Formats: sequence, structure tokens, C-alpha cells
Amino acid sequence: MDGNTGRGKQLIQSYGCGSCHTIPGVHAARGVVGPPLMFFSRRTMIAGELPNSPENLIRWIRDPKAVEPGTAMPTLGLTEYEAHDVAAYLYTLR
Ligand code: HEC
Repeated sequence: MDGNTGRGKQLIQSYGCGSCHTIPGVHAARGVVGPPLMFFSRRTMIAGELPNSPENLIRWIRDPKAVEPGTAMPTLGLTEYEAHDVAAYLYTLR
């Protein structure tokens, strides 16, 4: 997918995704509340709910509770553009 991977990485840092997820390449992203996001591009499902595609990943990142009401992942308020760049970074993890 397109999208600015460098900016995506910065956004991951500033939104604190790493407090819950271990994310390769992101400083201090060693959380263990959510699943580790290594090899994300090889994942077939997102949160066990949606097939892994850029559209679905953006949807998940923007509003996880709309996909899975009971999920522990909070809705952090990313814009469509921000979620796009974050998704682009996650797909660099192969
Ligand atoms: C408060 C903890 C928390 C924060 C902060 C958080 N997440 Fe999550 N995340 C979770 C949990 C818990 C799950 C597992 C969801 C489920 O299966 O219900 C998850 C699932 C995911 C998944 C699906 C993983 C998979 O293996 O299918 C992705 C992708 C993801 N999060 C990305 C992000 C991104 C990007 C951010 C920052 C914008 C973020 N998360 C912030 C807790 C968090």
C-alpha cells in the first residue's frame, strides 16, 4: 500500500501503541497487553475478526470497538490519514 511509513512510525510512537504492543523498529514499544505486531504483513486476520487488508487495518486502528465491542484496545482518535500511515508502517513488518 502507499502511505508515509516514516510518519506512520512517528505516529505509533506518539499515540503510545507501544505501551500495549511489541512493535519492531519502534523505540520502547515492548508492551504485552495486546499481541506483538511483528511479521504483521503475514497475518491473515486482524484481531481474529477481519481479513488482513489495508482497508480493514485502517478500520481497526481507527475504531477497534466498532469491529469488536468487547476489545481491550481503545479508540485513540486517529484520523483517516494518520491510520493510513500507521498501516503503511505495519505492512513493512514482514
Ligand atoms: C491499551 C492497550 C492498547 C493500545 C494503546 C493499542 N492497542 Fe492495539 N490491541 C490491543 C489489544 C488488547 C488487541 C487484541 C484485540 C482483540 O483481539 O480483541 C489489539 C490488537 C491490535 C491489532 C490486531 C493484531 C492482530 O494480531 O490481529 C493491531 C494491528 C493493533 N492492535 C494496532 C494498534 C495500533 C496501531 C495502536 C496505536 C495507534 C494500538 N494498537 C494501540 C491493545 C492496545
